[in-house]
Amino acid sequence: MSSLRITGGRRLFGEIRVQGAKNSALPILAASILSGGETVITNCPELSDVHAALDILRTLGCRAEFEGDTVTVDSSSMTGFEIPDALMRRMRSSVIFLGAILARCGQVTLSMPGGCELGPRPIDLHLAAMERLGASVARQGGNLICRAPKLKGARVDLSFPSVGATENAMLAAAGAQGVTLITNAAREPEILDLGEYLKALGVRVSGAGTSTVTVEGGRFRPFVRHRVIPDRIAAATYISAAAAAGGNIVLRGVEPEHLTAVADVFREMGVGLTCRPDALLVSAGGPLRPPRTVTTRPYPGFPTDAQPTLMAACLGCEGASVFVETIFENRYRHVPELARMGADIRVDGRVAIVRGGRPLHGAVVEAPDLRGGAALAVAALAAEGTSEILETGHILRGYEHITENLTALGAQVWEETERKDERWSTKGEGKGVPAARSSM
Ligand code: UD1
Repeated sequence: MSSLRITGGRRLFGEIRVQGAKNSALPILAASILSGGETVITNCPELSDVHAALDILRTLGCRAEFEGDTVTVDSSSMTGFEIPDALMRRMRSSVIFLGAILARCGQVTLSMPGGCELGPRPIDLHLAAMERLGASVARQGGNLICRAPKLKGARVDLSFPSVGATENAMLAAAGAQGVTLITNAAREPEILDLGEYLKALGVRVSGAGTSTVTVEGGRFRPFVRHRVIPDRIAAATYISAAAAAGGNIVLRGVEPEHLTAVADVFREMGVGLTCRPDALLVSAGGPLRPPRTVTTRPYPGFPTDAQPTLMAACLGCEGASVFVETIFENRYRHVPELARMGADIRVDGRVAIVRGGRPLHGAVVEAPDLRGGAALAVAALAAEGTSEILETGHILRGYEHITENLTALGAQVWEETERKDERWSTKGEGKGVPAARSSM
């Protein structure tokens, strides 16, 4: 798929199952190399980022297979400790292999993860954690070379609760001798999930999901089976979609506890959220109210990954909504694209003010990044006429079956497999069914 067309104005009704969490699956795939045995991961979403992780595993000499929602990794044949630059660039979270390869092989060579999609994404905290555990870090050309013939447990004090740095510290600590204490650790549910995987592997982990995590390496079990937690960001996206378009939807397979901060904001806006065993009922019918200032923070605060899609839903609020983005510097790249659809949003540094209640109209827009792309889809569902979202590769990094899911909820969504030379005009919007593959 290279573009997505959405004709807005239809309320959403129906039921979908929310995918497994991308941000859990990726570090667990990296962790699968620790034991030199076999790992079976279920509820794994089929995403381009997951395929990138599987390609890294294969490059390292592992066997990695994906069938249905199950990935099997056999790392007994792993020989490599280098991640080629092209693979590092395919996915920013490839850096999560750093701690795992170091723990397994005593050395690792990789390049800086590419680009600056959301602003600078340094890895200084990751490297400092590796050094605390006894690794040396050298830069050669564009490469980073970390070596630690023997990792030793240590105290790792993170100056910011970075998700990736916490995960890398846990992965390296799992292969270290002695106890590692990580303070100011990230508390995201995905960290707890990685901790559960490591425990199943035979590593002693306590405190994962709190700000103090201890890890003590031990003998690894040769076989682990693990089910990935539900994707709270995908769930937040579908809640945003229902809020924007209106309707009643049921999200199966979610973990409401992980959505507390998100649910609080939507309830303030007037969206009904009811928890049932294994399902979340979302109902959005009446007018939306602007929420109090939404400030993104590390978990359990409001997630930065849910900010763009919530912003798109807030375009339907009567009045002004205020956002403060504190995690990433460049996380308002969807704003100029939303403006093409008629949105009135002012950005000043980390603050964005959304003046909602203006009618949105279909437009040709470009997904600037993963969650920004999802925000465009949410806005398109509420807009009059048809929108075409280009650069949908970004969206496919994080959303499994997004076209099918939205279609199942009654939205009018089509995938275009080839980009046309001439950009599609919005003149005849809403008329005619696009010629390319339809998933309706
Ligand atoms: C993870 C998530 C991403 C989410 C983010 C914040 C994955 C694969 N990705 O990304 O979806 O948006 O958490 O919840 O799980 N920082 C440093 N130095 C470092 C590391 C981070 O300064 O060494 C800064 C970053 O620039 C950023 C902040 O810390 O400002 C948060 O980054 P971090 O929590 O590390 O995010 P990621 O792990 O990259």
